[in-house]
Amino acid sequence: MNDSPISRFNLLQRQAQKKWVALQNSPQPLIYLGAASCGRAAGAMLTLQAIQETLEEINRSAHILQVGCIGPCYLEPLMDLQLPGLPRISYARVSPEKAKRILRAALLEGDLSPKLAIGHFGDDAFTQQSGIGRFFDLPMLKPQVRVILRNCGFIDPQDIDQYLAQDGYAGFIQALQKGPLGVIEEVKQSGLRGRGGAGFPTYKKWEICRAAEGEKKFVICNADEGDPGAFMNRSLLEGDPHAVLEGMLIAGFAIGAQQGFVYVRAEYPLAVARLRQAIQQMRQVGLLGEDILGSGFSFDIEVKEGAGAFVCGEETALIASLEGERGMPRPRPPFPAEKGYRGYPTLINNTETFGILPNILRNGGQWFSQLGSPGNSGTKTFSLVGKARHTGLIEVPLGMTLRQIVFDIGGGTIKPFKAVQTGGPLGGCLSAAHLDTPVDYENMRASGSIMGSGGLIVLDESTCIVDLARYFLTFSKSESCGKCTPCRVGTRILVETLEKIARGEGEMEDLDVLYKVADTMQRTALCGGGQTAPNPVLTTLKYFLNEYLTHIQGRYCPAAVCTALFEYRIIAEKCTGCGRCVQVCSSGAVHGEKKEPHVIDVDKCIKCRACVEACKFDAIVGVPISYRQPQEVTL
Ligand SMILES: Cc1cc2nc3c(=O)[nH]c(=O)nc-3n(C[C@H](O)[C@H](O)[C@H](O)COP(=O)(O)O)c2cc1C
Repeated sequence: MNDSPISRFNLLQRQAQKKWVALQNSPQPLIYLGAASCGRAAGAMLTLQAIQETLEEINRSAHILQVGCIGPCYLEPLMDLQLPGLPRISYARVSPEKAKRILRAALLEGDLSPKLAIGHFGDDAFTQQSGIGRFFDLPMLKPQVRVILRNCGFIDPQDIDQYLAQDGYAGFIQALQKGPLGVIEEVKQSGLRGRGGAGFPTYKKWEICRAAEGEKKFVICNADEGDPGAFMNRSLLEGDPHAVLEGMLIAGFAIGAQQGFVYVRAEYPLAVARLRQAIQQMRQVGLLGEDILGSGFSFDIEVKEGAGAFVCGEETALIASLEGERGMPRPRPPFPAEKGYRGYPTLINNTETFGILPNILRNGGQWFSQLGSPGNSGTKTFSLVGKARHTGLIEVPLGMTLRQIVFDIGGGTIKPFKAVQTGGPLGGCLSAAHLDTPVDYENMRASGSIMGSGGLIVLDESTCIVDLARYFLTFSKSESCGKCTPCRVGTRILVETLEKIARGEGEMEDLDVLYKVADTMQRTALCGGGQTAPNPVLTTLKYFLNEYLTHIQGRYCPAAVCTALFEYRIIAEKCTGCGRCVQVCSSGAVHGEKKEPHVIDVDKCIKCRACVEACKFDAIVGVPISYRQPQEVTL
């Protein structure tokens, strides 16, 4: 018998495909439940319980697949039903009661509840027959291109066979056939740039690492993802861990490494569990360990949990943390590709960078380079959050404009659009004037922002720009490791200055302080963290200077966010006297007779917003007030 790696792999793949076809043609219904963190946060595990109870109650059985995030997190929990001979149909916001209703109707009466369905995965004929539209025609999904996320929401990430059945590990087999240099050439052809933020050409780093001398070499997957509001890497690991692990195998083979680490934050317990399980399954089928599939290539992967320090996402700090040291950056050069983990050549790439690789090896670098835009090939995942109507995980070709992302995919905002923060806390805040900017590495940088690892926070007119800059700088200040003075002291001065302006005590000279400190940090901080931390301040000063001036010269916060600069008032005409605001007010500031307009005692009000959130009639508004000069105190 021919026992080559290819024949061993073909056998694994054939068995897996047989199981997959049997599952898809099963006489039992298939139920897909979005059970990633976003689904769970929305109550998916209670929905799962309700599904199981219902099946028992009506004495039916079904295959339940707990799948990863398919994208529209705002619609979670998502439950899809696939009856024998029919396409899969998706239902959104499936509470336990709704799950029971849908399952009873479908399994007992053959009624697919078309009014509750949000889309199906079949053809046009089924649309006509059922009156249900196609899932991928939903406005949020139609402009997207799924390469990295191809399996998320479609397979059970806990089952290696389901991954193998979708051509999983075929990219690694291609790599074995091409040889290390052939792999690097394919990655070069693809034009892939690192998805962790800097956009460094992936093949170049691999070439350097391959050429570097060292008796051992390491591969590290950077799954630290510390940006507030970012969850692309987590979602990929939860929904398709094998894609990332396959990417690491390919990289390890290309550079000649023996050991890989996934450095993942401990706050991602589901991702950690999925990774550990996937690694175990790889070992069981011979895709990890000694002499993988008889190819002579040996490689192992270990999961290391980080304690959630933002700076540990920076590659040299990450390596220090892996080595058991405090996670602090080191000056570069030497770069990790030459001298990294324990002094050995170490390839460190972002989770998504690894996740793309199997697709590149399977379909060819040429294919990948045709996606996206020139110099910015391929697709990129983003987490679209904030005030967008459709929030969630998206994947789009690079070069798509911010307008397409925010309005076509995100559905725009309810209140007028104000800004979009790209690249997380180290990124920048762009205004409506930038909506037609293509999202790629160069354009984002030219605007003063960065693409970063893919966080996109949409903001509307209820956001105060000074407060926003204060928020991100406070994050950077508390996450600064403190090793270098420009970052440690610079972030503190920036925060204090922004707080002063937000209190209505700012002076025009404070703007000079912001510019000067930002400039010093950009030029002298030790790592990219300190160098880019002023971005939120600089971009907001550049594009929203008026708001700073209003705070400083007018002592006024137009968005009614900076607590010293506004009061809450009740609009008597809109107030029905329902009393909800009274119930939630913890300081006893709201009072009034039932069914009569209420009032707020401004001296007691602590501006916690609880009443605003509780009011169903938009009757409570923040009214900007002029700054009150603090009284002089004579001792
Ligand atoms: C403060 C700071 C935090 C970072 N956090 C991350 C992170 O969470 N994930 C990541 O992949 N890269 C992060 N990076 C970038 C990494 O240092 C590194 O460039 C990246 O992992 C390289 O992978 P790539 O070439 O695939 O992009 C961070 C950089 C800085 C300066």
